[in-house]
Amino acid sequence: MQLATIAALLTAPIVAQFLYRCWTNPLRKIPAAHPLAHFTSLWINHVRWRSVENATLQRAHRELGPVVRLGPNEVSVNCVKGGIREIYAGGFEKANLNGTFNWYAFFTNFGSESNMFSTGRNKAHSARKRMLSNIYSKSVITASPALLAQVSTILYDRFLPRLACAFSKEDPGVLNINPLLNAATMDILSAYIFGLKSSSNLIDDPEQLSWFLDLYNSRRSFNFWPQELPALTSFVKKWFRYRLVPEWVDKANMDIEDWTHGMCERAVKVISEGAANVADRPVVYEQLSGALAKEAKKAGEEGRDCRLLAASEVLDQIAAGFDTSGITLTYVIHELSRNTQVQARLQRELRTLSSCISPSSSPTLPDGKAVDALPYLHAVIWETLRLHPAIPGPQPRVSPPQGCRLGSDGNTYYVPGGVRVSASAGLLHLHEEVYPQAHEWKPERWLELEKLDDEKKRDMENRWFWAFGSGGRMCVGSHLAVYQMKYIVAAVYSNYTTAIVDDAGIEQSDAYTAPPKNSELFIRLQRLES
Ligand code: HEM
Ligand SMILES: *[C@@H]1O[C@H](CO)[C@@H](O)[C@H](O)[C@H]1NC(C)=O
Ligand SMILES: *[C@@H]1O[C@H](CO)[C@@H](O)[C@H](O)[C@H]1NC(C)=O
Ligand SMILES: *[C@@H]1O[C@H](CO)[C@@H](O)[C@H](O)[C@H]1NC(C)=O
Repeated sequence: MQLATIAALLTAPIVAQFLYRCWTNPLRKIPAAHPLAHFTSLWINHVRWRSVENATLQRAHRELGPVVRLGPNEVSVNCVKGGIREIYAGGFEKANLNGTFNWYAFFTNFGSESNMFSTGRNKAHSARKRMLSNIYSKSVITASPALLAQVSTILYDRFLPRLACAFSKEDPGVLNINPLLNAATMDILSAYIFGLKSSSNLIDDPEQLSWFLDLYNSRRSFNFWPQELPALTSFVKKWFRYRLVPEWVDKANMDIEDWTHGMCERAVKVISEGAANVADRPVVYEQLSGALAKEAKKAGEEGRDCRLLAASEVLDQIAAGFDTSGITLTYVIHELSRNTQVQARLQRELRTLSSCISPSSSPTLPDGKAVDALPYLHAVIWETLRLHPAIPGPQPRVSPPQGCRLGSDGNTYYVPGGVRVSASAGLLHLHEEVYPQAHEWKPERWLELEKLDDEKKRDMENRWFWAFGSGGRMCVGSHLAVYQMKYIVAAVYSNYTTAIVDDAGIEQSDAYTAPPKNSELFIRLQRLES
């Protein structure tokens, strides 16, 4: 009895203080996605652990409006004005002031080398981004002789022959296109970064391809603990010697790093010896290592070894780029295979290109500008990025020290500094007022843009379209992504018709990067008559 009284007396002030804090937290006015969200982050963490965050947020916003509380210190938004415009165009940081929160730190590579994606604070980030934004800009990408030569070799010498191979099998024309698409995007991306000679050739090496994809994908299910609860993860490991993330995941990361490192070393050699031809030029690596050396010199550390930093940066670009483009392409092919009329229309459009992309034509690709200007191809890619965004979100940021106001139309809320705030492309893209029949894949909606008034057009094209994010942390590789996706789709459909053989598990996984659940899409190719 006495013991119980003492315990009650001791805990009472703690409980009182906890309740007082909940009661005075300005976020209490924001509708909560779950009653527990006012008191604890256990609820939202449980949602994330079960991989049902997209579905949960979708329901919460539908029922409660564009601003929703997810935890004691966390808010989700689903609107442009008072939402993504404030947070992302407004340059909210990825990390808090003292650096104790940075959700993206998980994407750090090579020990503790930060990179463009993982850097928490804007100042350090923009110095890095300035080094690379030029070579990834649209004008440089579409006019790059190196990239054109690389894509040309990869499509003519590897990709199209690999498709043709599908006919020499037992079931002629049938193949699982998903890994091949990932291989193609990795080969193109790594060729632009390291030069053709120093880059990967996963298309021609199915063994290395499955080695790489297995390593890469096997780690996915262990993201939750280190990403959402990094302090707890290290605490448990240190004091209880218990690994929430198995050792082989660290080993897989190291293998991927070694593999990247090999490409870096080969690129360094090419830079010092000079590239034999334009396709072998390591465009990105050369620019990056030069800029890092210059930065070191400016800081009075001439001769500093920047190789690890460069490796972390390029691995970041590979990881951010190949998978996302591969996912998008998988859904492009899936949707086209289901919509034969759309496919036929695309094929008619592709026939207008001056040089056809086929193994029999002379291996010169049509001009990048001509491919980019095809309106229907553009619409097909854009509609897929809308309905199946490879990174559906959410993208966490931290509210600035002075706080902010979120929400619109008379329903705005004060949010103090240091709060985790986020929006999700997957939810923004389902906004019915901007994208009528939003759950349906309708490329035509992008052709009808010209008929819309200016406001509606900007809503669709810019304000609500968020596949590549917005603001200072927007995707640096979006132009390269679109460039390679357009060429790959053009190469397939200039030559073949596709139909679905087996698409079980094609729905997107509920994750930050969202590949098909099965990582498979079996299609049947049928040669087009020329
Ligand atoms: C369809 C393909 C792609 C999609 C859907 C995509 C999507 C995104 C998104 C949504 C972000 C913003 C993340 C945030 O706000 O925190 C991002 C950032 C980034 N992406 Fe992409 N991406 C794609 C392709 C690529 C490619 C090919 C590269 C290769 C260079 C790349 C490199 C990056 C990098 C380095 C960042 C970080 C930028 C920064 O923090 O300043 N991405 N991407
Ligand atoms: C997110 O959830 C909604 C509703 O359940 C669904 O329609 C949508 O396809 C999901 N998005 C992704 C990227 O899985
Ligand atoms: C860092 O800042 C957060 C608020 O953003 C605060 O809760 C935390 O106690 C601070 N940590 C340290 C070590 O100062
Ligand atoms: C497609 O490729 C085959 C060889 O695999 C070739 O014979 C044919 O002409 C190509 N089709 C078109 C439309 O170019």
